[in-house]
Amino acid sequence: MKKLQVAIFISGRGSNLESLIQSSFKKKSLVEVQTVISNNFKAKGLVIAKKNKIPSIYSIPNKNFEKKAMKYLKNVDIICLAGFMKVLDSKFVTKWRSRLINIHPSYLPAFKGLKAQDQAIKAKASYSGCSVHYVNSQIDSGEIILQKKVQILMKDNTESLSKKILIEEHKVYPRALQMVAKKLLSSQKIR
Ligand code: GRF
Repeated sequence: MKKLQVAIFISGRGSNLESLIQSSFKKKSLVEVQTVISNNFKAKGLVIAKKNKIPSIYSIPNKNFEKKAMKYLKNVDIICLAGFMKVLDSKFVTKWRSRLINIHPSYLPAFKGLKAQDQAIKAKASYSGCSVHYVNSQIDSGEIILQKKVQILMKDNTESLSKKILIEEHKVYPRALQMVAKKLLSSQKIR
């Protein structure tokens, strides 16, 4: 069976990119990572993409990012945002509705936006977590696909909480991607 083609957008470290790539290598995976696009040419994730022999790797600056990226997405079925630090324009988001997903380091709808782990620590919350959600025109507000809670202990700080959340991110994101792929395949919404 033909695997769904995935593009991953990154801006930095790329640890979620790595976990998505590794899980796509599993025999049962419904997806294949075809393309990696970074809006930051210095992103460490670009090295990870190269090391894993992803067929198409691009670096596109923010100016006219969406227009330029579209040229490379012709055969792509799903886009995963993985630490991608740019708000995509509404035209792009609408075009990719139900095929564009993101991971956020909090148990949404709590702690949207930047420094989510820091927000959770400052709020003295008893838990936070991570969420994979569809992207809509508002930040971190689209329909939730999968999420996982992480307890916050008295001794936790932003750094220790971020580490605990990241461990869960690396499990949750690949699972959520398979769920989205399964849904698209069963609804036959394949390009
Ligand atoms: C992750 O914590 C993710 O939830 C957030 O940005 C961070 C990206 O980390 N959106 P990495 O680049 O995947 O290592």
